[in-house]
Amino acid sequence: MYKETIDRERMPRHVAIIMDGNGRWAKSHGLARMFGHRQGVETVHRITEAAAELGIRYLTLYAFSTENWNRPQQEVDALMELLVDTIAKETETLMKNNVRLLTIGDLNRLPQKAQDKFRRCMEQTAGNTGLRLVIALSYSARWEIIRAARKLAEEVQSGTLRVEDIDETTVSEHLTTSGIPDPDLLIRTSGEQRISNFLLWQAAYSELYFTPCLWPDFTVDEFYKALIDYQGRERRFGKTSEQLNTNKG
Ligand code: FPP
Repeated sequence: MYKETIDRERMPRHVAIIMDGNGRWAKSHGLARMFGHRQGVETVHRITEAAAELGIRYLTLYAFSTENWNRPQQEVDALMELLVDTIAKETETLMKNNVRLLTIGDLNRLPQKAQDKFRRCMEQTAGNTGLRLVIALSYSARWEIIRAARKLAEEVQSGTLRVEDIDETTVSEHLTTSGIPDPDLLIRTSGEQRISNFLLWQAAYSELYFTPCLWPDFTVDEFYKALIDYQGRERRFGKTSEQLNTNKG
């Protein structure tokens, strides 16, 4: 019912999602937190397929934040194992849907097995030309901005970059999202209305969409609703409505 309402001519090029509420979903069903994460993987599967089918170019999912390393060790280990299993199981689905896997974040901080699985999946799917599925792993925006600042400073120090040449483009090129367009739409599930250290630079002009729906309950129809809501908004990038209408000419 929602699907027919989507304007295929005005699709966001890049949708980013803060997948939140797995723990609360598990609790509300009287289950351990990991059941929520496992159910969350089902949502990842169906939303990725839906995004690929709609012709969205980039889908970025916040799977594990830098701050998530501070969770109880047992949960961290179980999440890492779940990521490894999921990548192993889902590579075939990615191939079938012509999806290319990319990652952002500090991949080197992950256990070796997880790094190997992700790198292998990235290689296997490198030739796919459809949706780019970007998984944020050990990612936080402040971590990536500090890293970019250090790299820029090093280049200035070594004489390969002039201070006056540092602009928005150079900064963007030094972030882990280099080459990926900024998100047009940023969705957060579970009712929290925060950005939580996710894509702070890149989301400067993103439309924000918050839904009370917990991530395991986030259906394809809920995703369509977010896209329809986005399509109803006027994106001005600091300009006036009149300027935008004149430019449409
Ligand atoms: C937030 O829920 C969810 C996470 C920190 C992990 C999300 C990871 C997955 C769904 C697995 C993803 C797999 C792939 C391959 C992308 P929460 O635990 O913060 O929930 P709560 O706020 O209700 O406690």
